[in-house]
Order: sequence, then C-alpha cells, then structure tokens
Amino acid sequence: MSHVATLESYIAKNILSEAAFAQYKLGDVAHRELQPYVTELRRVSEAYVTHETGTRLHSPIHSARAAQAYALYYTPINAAKLLHLSPLLQFERSEISMLDVGCGPGTAALAILSSLQQRVRITCVESSPHMSELALSLIEAWDINNNLLGVRMRNSVEPRLETYDLVVAANVLAELSHEQSVATLSALTQSVSRGGYLLLLEPGQQLHTRRLMEMRDRVVASRSDLAPIFPCTRSSECPMLSASATDWCHDTLEWQQPPLNAQLDHLLSFNKHRIKYAAFIFQQGGSVPSGVRILTPPCKTRLGTEALVCGDSFYGTARLRKGLRSERTRPFEKGKVFDRLLVSGSLQEEIAEDTAFAKVDRPRPI
Ligand SMILES: C[S@@+](CC[C@H](N)C(=O)[O-])C[C@H]1O[C@@H](n2cnc3c(N)ncnc32)[C@H](O)[C@@H]1O
Repeated sequence: MSHVATLESYIAKNILSEAAFAQYKLGDVAHRELQPYVTELRRVSEAYVTHETGTRLHSPIHSARAAQAYALYYTPINAAKLLHLSPLLQFERSEISMLDVGCGPGTAALAILSSLQQRVRITCVESSPHMSELALSLIEAWDINNNLLGVRMRNSVEPRLETYDLVVAANVLAELSHEQSVATLSALTQSVSRGGYLLLLEPGQQLHTRRLMEMRDRVVASRSDLAPIFPCTRSSECPMLSASATDWCHDTLEWQQPPLNAQLDHLLSFNKHRIKYAAFIFQQGGSVPSGVRILTPPCKTRLGTEALVCGDSFYGTARLRKGLRSERTRPFEKGKVFDRLLVSGSLQEEIAEDTAFAKVDRPRPI
C-alpha cells in the first residue's frame, strides 16, 4: 500500500462509523454514510473557492463534522503533496522535532509520521477548536510506524522560544491577510533549528502561488542563512515574478488517488485525478543547489524543443535546435517539471552545440 493509501485508511478508520469502515475495506462506502461529509465538503470548498486571495478567510470549519469531512477528503490530497516532497528532507538524527502550523486535522504531521524513518516530536498550531481537537485525536492514536514521540497543541507560533528541525506551513498562508502572512512568515523563519527545514506549501492556484513566490523573496531578502533548496536553484529574487504578471511556479502530480478520495470526488463532481501544488523549501545553513530547474514541460516547436528553465545565471525559455539533439541533451528534451539538471557549459536562449545536461533530482513520484 502506498503511504497515501495507508494514511487514507488510517483516517477513515478513525472517523467513519464501524459499518462504513467495514464497507470501505471492501469497496465503496454507502452514500448515506458519506452524505453528511459531502454536504460539509461542498460548503467548505465553496468558502475556499470564493475567498479573495490576500484577505483573512473566516474559517468554514464550524463543527466537528466539518473538520472530519476536511480530514477525509483534503488531508490525503495535501499529504500526497508533502509525501512527494519529503524525500528532499534529509535528517541525520534519529529523533526530530516538527512544527505543523495551521495543522488542520494534522495533515503535515501525519504525512511526516507516515514517511520518515525518524521518531518525531510534534507541535501543532491551530486556531480552529474543531480542527485542533481532531488533529490531537488523529495524531495521538498514530499506531503505524511506532515513531511518534509526542504531540502538543499551541495557540500560536512562539518565535525564538523554541526551534524545530522541520517547520511546515501547509495551505495556511492562503487563509491569512497580507499583514498576518508577513508576521507569521517572520515567526516561522525564526523557528527553524540549525540545519533544519522550512517547508511552505500552498494551494496549486495561480494567485496563491504568486503570493507564495513573493513570500519566498521575503525570506531570501531577510534571512541569508535560510537557503532556498527547492525548487529554486538561485538565491536572488524570483525572476518569474518580474518577468511575467501571470506565470506561477508550480507542478502537477499524477497520483494513485486512494479509493475514498475518488468516491468523494465522484459524489462532489470534483476532479482530483491530478493535483497541482506550489511549494518552497528552505534549509537553515544549507546551500542553494547548482544547475537549473525545468519549470514547464519541454515542448516541440517548429524551431526545436523549448522549455522554461530557472537557474543562477539564466532564467527564460531555452531552445534546443532540432539538429543538436543527442544523448547529451536528452535530459533536457525528456525533462519533467521540477527536474534539476546540471549543465556543462553556459546556458543561454539557444542551447549551444557543446552543452550537456545531467539530471540530478526531482521529488519522487508518489
Ligand atoms: C486549509 S487548512 C490546512 C490544513 C492542513 N495544514 C492541510 O494542509 O491540510 C488551514 C488551517 O489553518 C488554520 N489557521 C488559519 N489561520 C490560523 C492562524 N492564524 N493560526 C493557526 N491556525 C490557523 C485553519 O483553522 C485551518 O485549519
């Protein structure tokens, strides 16, 4: 079973009725069991979709049922994104501490517990009482990898009082006003331990992502010790923000949608067969990776193969003329979004004859 499927099953076991969970293990769950969650999900989703980016979202989680509905549907989706990114986090110690800010039902904490070898001490911050109650119950009951060291809930981030090996803010800046986001981001950057990571994940939508790109620039400008390690391969300002008023730095994941998620998708007439995400990872004391990152899928044009790439000394569409295709250029031609390529020779708009590419990393498929 994949990590996401395991996680969905764990959440279903802890939330659905015994009868519904028995049905889940065999196949589809009866509609009458899911209907109360579907009603809540429609309302919650409507609040997210109509919320104006950059303003405070008044929480649509008004009840325990709404929090449960969120956990059943959104947690596997958001956890899948985090699971996709988690191989980029390397910890040397066998025990780590984690701060999950705006944890909802404990999405990031559960994703990390299910994917990391390390034992994890978790601190959650959550303003909704329904979400925080559910997060505590889901995390405290964690019985899968035997790697939970403890969990506690805080009302707010307390910068400098304590630092963490991993700080995650997943889909929370999107709910905050500009001023609140800036203040939260500042507190988060002060909460990262030496060598630790800050992971910011936001909904895969253009406006939220562009806002996140601005937040990324704030971190880079104010904290030279926090190296952007994903997806950036440069420590200066984001060139995409100034080059275009509409482009947004994101990827689309193909995932094996777990069964309850697919059933809820169907009942809601939503479509999460593929999921978009935008994220930035920073490492305290880390170094910016070398090479370039592919930002759009390479596409064949009349003139050759073109892809938008971002690197320390080049940002823009690079073109490989037809006659120059070879083994050395294959990683560029076959590149996927967020592949990191090492480049021998200098990269420019027209890829030169002697330029060679080597693929280094991209988060693994889920
Ligand atoms: C969209 S949910 C994301 C939940 C989870 N992180 C995930 O990715 O699935 C955003 C959560 O942030 C919480 N939140 C919003 N503003 C907050 C604040 N100022 N302090 C703590 N939590 C907050 C909301 O109550 C909600 O549970």
